[in-house]
Amino acid sequence: MDTMRLFFALWPDAAARASLSNLQYGLHGRLTTAHNLHVTLAFLGQQPAARLPLFERILFELPQADIALHIDRIGYFTRKRIAWAGMHAVPQALIDLRMALVQALGRNEIPFDAQSAFKPHITLARDANQPEDMPFDAIDWHATQAVLVQSQLQKDGVAYRVVAMRDLGQRPPS
Ligand code: 2AM
Repeated sequence: MDTMRLFFALWPDAAARASLSNLQYGLHGRLTTAHNLHVTLAFLGQQPAARLPLFERILFELPQADIALHIDRIGYFTRKRIAWAGMHAVPQALIDLRMALVQALGRNEIPFDAQSAFKPHITLARDANQPEDMPFDAIDWHATQAVLVQSQLQKDGVAYRVVAMRDLGQRPPS
């Protein structure tokens, strides 16, 4: 069966992406390539390629959302050895969007990785050491692009391909 490794994410605009990649200076580990930086909303894993139209429909039917992310925190997942950027205060609009996505996946009986609590973050480096305390100017990212992404393993690492993009400022089709 033809399968694809897929996930839903918030995708930074060029300015937010550049600011986020600046946070990677001084980190030790495998740095995420700048054009791969994102916030995962739901990780689907390997899925039949034939279901792509369904995943695209779920993306385009997500509710309109106004998500202002104030990235003011560098954190570390000790077990996974991931250094990340995130927020002290996760906006309700992001929690609501994630809930709408989870419910849509559930209605359509799509299995996905829902084991752990939703901890929205941007992975900056893997196999990383605990980041040193580093003061930085908070990044205000108005997240308007929700995307469906294909993750492809390549010789030189992982490549992400945006399969579909949804402007969260627009109302979904009725
Ligand atoms: P991350 O969100 O901590 O960076 C694609 O692999 C993206 O989905 C990555 O951003 C990854 O981790 C996230 N992800 C969430 N759950 C995953 C899982 N069980 N396996 C692989 N990636 C997962």
